[in-house]
Amino acid sequence: MVVEKIESTLALVKPDAFDNTENIITIIKRNGFVISERQVVTLSKERAAQFYEEHKERSFYDDLTTFMSSGPTLALVLRKADAITSWRQLMGPTNSDKARKEAPDSIRAKFGTDGSKNATHGSDSPQSAAREIAFFFPEYQHSSEFNGQDVREYLTKTVTPLLTTALTEMCRLNPSDPVEWLGHYLLKSAGISAEPAKPSKNIYFVLGGPGSGKGTQCAKLVEKLSFDHFSAGDLLRNEVSSGSEQGKMIGEMIKEGKIVPGHITLDLLRNAIDGSNAPGVLIDGFPRQLGQAGSFEKEVSDFEFVLFFDCPEEEMERRLLQRGKTSGRSDDNIDSIRKRFNTFVNTSMPVIEYYEAKGKVHKIDATMPIDTVTEAILKLF
Ligand code: ADP
Ligand code: C5P
Ligand code: MG
Repeated sequence: MVVEKIESTLALVKPDAFDNTENIITIIKRNGFVISERQVVTLSKERAAQFYEEHKERSFYDDLTTFMSSGPTLALVLRKADAITSWRQLMGPTNSDKARKEAPDSIRAKFGTDGSKNATHGSDSPQSAAREIAFFFPEYQHSSEFNGQDVREYLTKTVTPLLTTALTEMCRLNPSDPVEWLGHYLLKSAGISAEPAKPSKNIYFVLGGPGSGKGTQCAKLVEKLSFDHFSAGDLLRNEVSSGSEQGKMIGEMIKEGKIVPGHITLDLLRNAIDGSNAPGVLIDGFPRQLGQAGSFEKEVSDFEFVLFFDCPEEEMERRLLQRGKTSGRSDDNIDSIRKRFNTFVNTSMPVIEYYEAKGKVHKIDATMPIDTVTEAILKLF
C-alpha cells in the first residue's frame, strides 16, 4: 500500500503573476490541492526581507525583496498528500526560462519571467512550511495531519465495523427516531454516557397467557398514546430469523414453549428501550420468570405498573388456533400451545402474583371484545 502523508505547504502567487491568480488557482484545484487558507497582502520591504531572511547573504537578496514588495501577493495554504513535493513539481524549476525548456506545462513556465520574477513560491521542507505558514497565518492549525494509511486502517478496523453493527441493529429495532438512536448507540460505544440527557421513560409491563391479547392491545395503545411497543416474543423471533447459532437455539425453545435464558431477552429489550424516545414504553411478554423481573429492575429500569390480561385457557386456545391459520408461527399448534400454557401457569404466573402482592398489577378482563378491552385499559393512563 502506498503511504501518503497529508501535508500543508505555503504557496505564494508573486506580484509578477498576480494578474494570473485565477488561472493559477484553477490549476491548483485541478491538481487535487485543498486551499485551506488564502490572503492577499502587499508586503513591505521589511516584511519581504524577514520572509526571505535565509537568503540575506545572497547577491539577489535586495532585488528579490524589492520585487516582492512591488505589488500584491496572494498567500495560500495548500493541503494534500505530499503537498510540499507536489506543489514544487507543479511550479516547475525555479528559473522560468529553464522551466519553459524542461517543464513547459509548469506554472513557472507559463506565468513566470526569470529566476526571481518566477510567478510562485513554495516551501521546500516541512520545517520551512511550518515557518512560512506561520508567517502569513499565525493561527493555522497543523494538528490533524494524518497519514493516509493510518486513516484507512482506522476506518477499516474501527469505524466500518462499528457503523455496520450499529446500522444493522438500528434496522432490526426500527426505533422511532433513528438518528437519535444512532447517536446514543455511538456515544455508548465510545464509553460516553448519554443518560443524563435522556428524559426518564414510563415503562409498563403487559402480561397474560398466550393468546390473551397482549399484542393486539399494545398495537391499539401505540395508536392512541404514541407509546412504543416492544414484544419480547417478537424480538426473539427476529433473532431466530437471523439464522445465527443462538437464533437456532431460541427457535427450538420457542417451539417447545420454554423460556429463553433471561440475559438474551434482557439485552434485546435494553437495546430497544435505549432507542425509544416515546413518552411510554410497553414491554409485552416480559418478565416471564421471577429472575427476569429482578434483572430488569436492577439492570434496566424501574417501571410504572403491570397490565395483566386475565383470560381462561379455553378462550386463549381458541384464539391461538385461529391465529395459527395465518400467523406462520412455529408455536401456534396444539402441541406447542399446551406446553406454553404449562410454562405460563408454572413459571410466569408467579411473576404476576409477586407484583400483585406489591400492589403493582392492574387486572383486565381480556375476554371482552377488543375495543372494550382497549377502553378499559385507557382509563388507567
Ligand atoms: P398475545 O400477544 O397475548 O399472544 P394476540 O394479541 O396475538 O395475543 O391475540 C391472539 C389472537 O386473539 C389474535 O388472533 C387476535 O386477533 C385475537 N384477539 C385478541 N384479543 C381479542 C379479543 N379481545 N377478543 C377476541 N379475539 C381477540
Ligand atoms: O409472547 P409470545 O407469545 O410472542 O412469546 C413466544 C415465545 O417466546 C414464548 O413462548 C417463549 O418461548 C419465548 N419467550 C421467552 N421469554 C420471554 C418472552 C417470550 O422465552 N420473556
Ligand atoms: Mg404476542
